[in-house]
Amino acid sequence: MIVSASILSADFANLEKEIKAVDNAGADWIHLDIMDGSFVPNITFGAPVVKALRKHTNKIFDVHLMIENPAKFVDDFIDAGADIIVPHFEADRHIQRTISYIKSKGKKAGVSLNPSTPVFMLEEILPFLDLVLIMSVNPGFPAQSLIETSYEKIRKLKAMGENIKHNFIIEVDGGINDKTVAKLAQAGMNAAVAGSYIFNSDNYSNSINILKQY
Ligand code: DX5
Ligand code: ZN
Repeated sequence: MIVSASILSADFANLEKEIKAVDNAGADWIHLDIMDGSFVPNITFGAPVVKALRKHTNKIFDVHLMIENPAKFVDDFIDAGADIIVPHFEADRHIQRTISYIKSKGKKAGVSLNPSTPVFMLEEILPFLDLVLIMSVNPGFPAQSLIETSYEKIRKLKAMGENIKHNFIIEVDGGINDKTVAKLAQAGMNAAVAGSYIFNSDNYSNSINILKQY
């Protein structure tokens, strides 16, 4: 299991220290939640913060764009050092163009789905994707409970990929912890985003190792 540590639950006054701590604790990726107060009812940080953090770790930057009009900001996040860029399906009418553009810049491209968006909406875009990010909570806030229908949604997505023989990463975000990870892994998740489970624990490496073993 790839573990992507979401710094949404880190101490924002000490981000350098927090990033280095999850890096040393064995996180595979760093998950950066970009929120604009419009696509989701919360605001976090933008490309300048991502750029500042880039100096403090060599881990893969997994950038989750919970913003309207994501295409407008893709270059900023590439310049800031993003490795994987994941706009929301619901935020971009021309997402195939945005995905192709991200890939033309040599970066990995993914699409994220809100809980209410069915996976069949990805039928035409799936062959272009390196990753699909299934939101297992409504995006905007940390430490919410996983929505139970997510397991079946992941199974359906996995089957869609198998049908067209296309390999991509199934990443899941929201409510992941020691109690939900096994069933998610079984359903087909191969990258786990975890925020509060890691950052609210006393031992980051224990929490990361528990998720990693699946
Ligand atoms: C939610 C964010 C998540 C968030 C997950 O809108 O996209 O990445 O950090 O938080 P936890 O792991 O606490 O559910
Ligand atoms: Zn996220």
